Amino acid sequence: MITLEHISKVYENANRVEALKDINLTIKKGEIYGIIGQSGAGKSTLIRCINMLEAPTSGSVIVDGVDLTKLSANDLRKARKDIGMIFQHFNLLSSRTVYDNVAFPLELQGLSKSEIKERIMPILDIVGLTDRVNNYPSQLSGGQKQRVGIARALASNPKVLLCDEATSALDPQTTKSILQLLKDINEKMGLTIVLITHEMQVIREICDRVAVIEGGIILEEGSTVEVFTNPKEHTTKEFISSVVSDNLPPEALEHFELHQDWIAGTAPLVRLKFTGQVADEPVVAGLVRRFNLDVSILFGGIDYIQNTSVGRLIIILNGDPMKAQEGLDYIKTLPIESEVIGYVRANH
Ligand SMILES: Nc1ncnc2c1ncn2[C@@H]1O[C@H](COP(=O)(O)OP(=O)(O)O)[C@@H](O)[C@H]1O
Ligand SMILES: [Mg+2]
Repeated sequence: MITLEHISKVYENANRVEALKDINLTIKKGEIYGIIGQSGAGKSTLIRCINMLEAPTSGSVIVDGVDLTKLSANDLRKARKDIGMIFQHFNLLSSRTVYDNVAFPLELQGLSKSEIKERIMPILDIVGLTDRVNNYPSQLSGGQKQRVGIARALASNPKVLLCDEATSALDPQTTKSILQLLKDINEKMGLTIVLITHEMQVIREICDRVAVIEGGIILEEGSTVEVFTNPKEHTTKEFISSVVSDNLPPEALEHFELHQDWIAGTAPLVRLKFTGQVADEPVVAGLVRRFNLDVSILFGGIDYIQNTSVGRLIIILNGDPMKAQEGLDYIKTLPIESEVIGYVRANH
């Protein structure tokens, strides 16, 4: 649906800023694609290149088979009808009602009053604002304002919706409801959604695929589950650790001595990570039953990323050291990731 080829963007102001460096990305029809990065990474520049609000310094922007960088101003205006956009601060017209804000792009396109009404009433219904049509933006909550922004973007029947930090000004609860709305629209209308954010939570809630951007470069890219469970870059790991607790809370080790080596009287402390079908119970039960180990669970949790569960478990394999070693060997035969963090002894 969207292909970016060798996109570079240089801002030539007082000082020269290379905001994007040879970006290559393909976004498929009907997917929700997330781009995550810290402030200043180049996210807004990148998403604004997709609808040519920002003209790239070099490279091609191909949307639905058309290279937007090659279009005349007039053809570009037409092509942009297929690309809706929503913003962090909603960008609503304060002197217009909800209805008139949503109608605005259609008025510009020269549609009649009745055509406009026919088009936007179902959209206002989808975003849940039918009882708010005559309100002004100042009478709305942040979440409702973003719903107006979404309705306005949908009014032109776009194929693509670009979201620039669309939930960053909202509280967590409202963020969830707006993300759910975006997901519904994606599923019901088959709309391709590109969103940029600095919050991993947003990616985890709704994105099928994700790219991590830093300093104008795509660091890594892949399905959300893949990137969450197997991040390669340091920056990606940092983003993930902000939403998925992977580390043992310090209190958990309060009553233990931790050693690097398996010295007498210590037991292996093991971190397990499993994705999808593998449940934690059979693993622990297997260790207990097969090797007669006394397994203590120090920490455990399951995260849901899209529809895939990602479980994390930190356990101690207490018991006969020979049996504990057999237990470790057994874990290695299972379709789970494991790591021996160290060896612990309870201190009394
Ligand atoms: N209009 C502009 N003129 C000059 N520099 C800009 C302009 N817009 C963005 N930049 C610079 O480009 C880089 C990327 O900015 P931006 O795309 O806004 O990042 P993000 O959205 O990830 O915070 C930053 O260094 C920023 O200062
Ligand atoms: Mg930005």
